[in-house]
Amino acid sequence: MQDLLTEIAEVAKTSPDKGQVATYIPELAKIDPEQFGICVATSDGNVYSAGDAETPFSIQSVSKVFALALALGKVGDQLWRRVGREPSGLSFDSILLLERENGVPRNPFINAGALVTTDTYLSGYSPKEALGELLRFVRSAADDDSIHINEAVARSEIATGHRNFSLAHYLASCGNMNAGVDKVLGTYCHQCAVEMSCRQLALAGRFLVERDDMPGLVSKERRRRINALMMTCGHYDGSGDFAFRVGLPGKSGVGGGILAIAPGRASIAVWSPGLNQYGNSKLGTEAMEMFAQKTGWSVFGAPQF
Ligand code: DON
Repeated sequence: MQDLLTEIAEVAKTSPDKGQVATYIPELAKIDPEQFGICVATSDGNVYSAGDAETPFSIQSVSKVFALALALGKVGDQLWRRVGREPSGLSFDSILLLERENGVPRNPFINAGALVTTDTYLSGYSPKEALGELLRFVRSAADDDSIHINEAVARSEIATGHRNFSLAHYLASCGNMNAGVDKVLGTYCHQCAVEMSCRQLALAGRFLVERDDMPGLVSKERRRRINALMMTCGHYDGSGDFAFRVGLPGKSGVGGGILAIAPGRASIAVWSPGLNQYGNSKLGTEAMEMFAQKTGWSVFGAPQF
């Protein structure tokens, strides 16, 4: 495993096309695109890493996985009255389907759906308390109390977040927003501004690795369902392509991170800030494809324990 990760990091570092860093959040535009890290936390307790695996990055939409777990923990299946479970086939920040579908977002991983999950875990709490819950969840999953929120990134996104404000206002106009647009946006942008290294993210992702002898933060059934949504919706309009190329449930973020789960086997985190046309990490996707090919790990193959 260690040799494989070292090889993947070497291939990534020498790749001539590293994609484009996200610029619509000004703080993210400052990130050096030359960085690449990968880390694998296996279900038998081993951790392997290569490249810039200890460098913290903005997890952005990868946070939507933790937010979903938190929202489901709070209201259970009632969440599905407010958000769907279908891929949207559109970009992560699209508003197109909201009008046609009466303000019920297609899934919890596009921005509109994530605003609903944030509204759900925020409901009844102050933003500070809700973010405290989120951090508690992530820190406990990673077993690392140093995980924090980058305030400058959160403020940078709030200051330029016209698209997300419009999504939130549209949801509110349809009666699908309870805590108020400003509070939800503030909480959502802080949630997206959680920083983690590949090592921390791979460790945090272990709660989604289905294995009976691993203590779980969520039930087995919920884990399976979150993984299903990651597979079908975790990469937006690039979800089908990721499933085709990698064959593992994954969630991406515009910070360049990807969390992928090999059920029963491992949690894998990869990071490279340059993005492809779908807003997913370009080298991260290529690295995950190489990883899946070389290990043979895929949810579409027979298990080889
Ligand atoms: O809401 C946004 O636009 C960002 N905070 C997160 C978007 C994102 O990460 C999309 N992922 N690839």
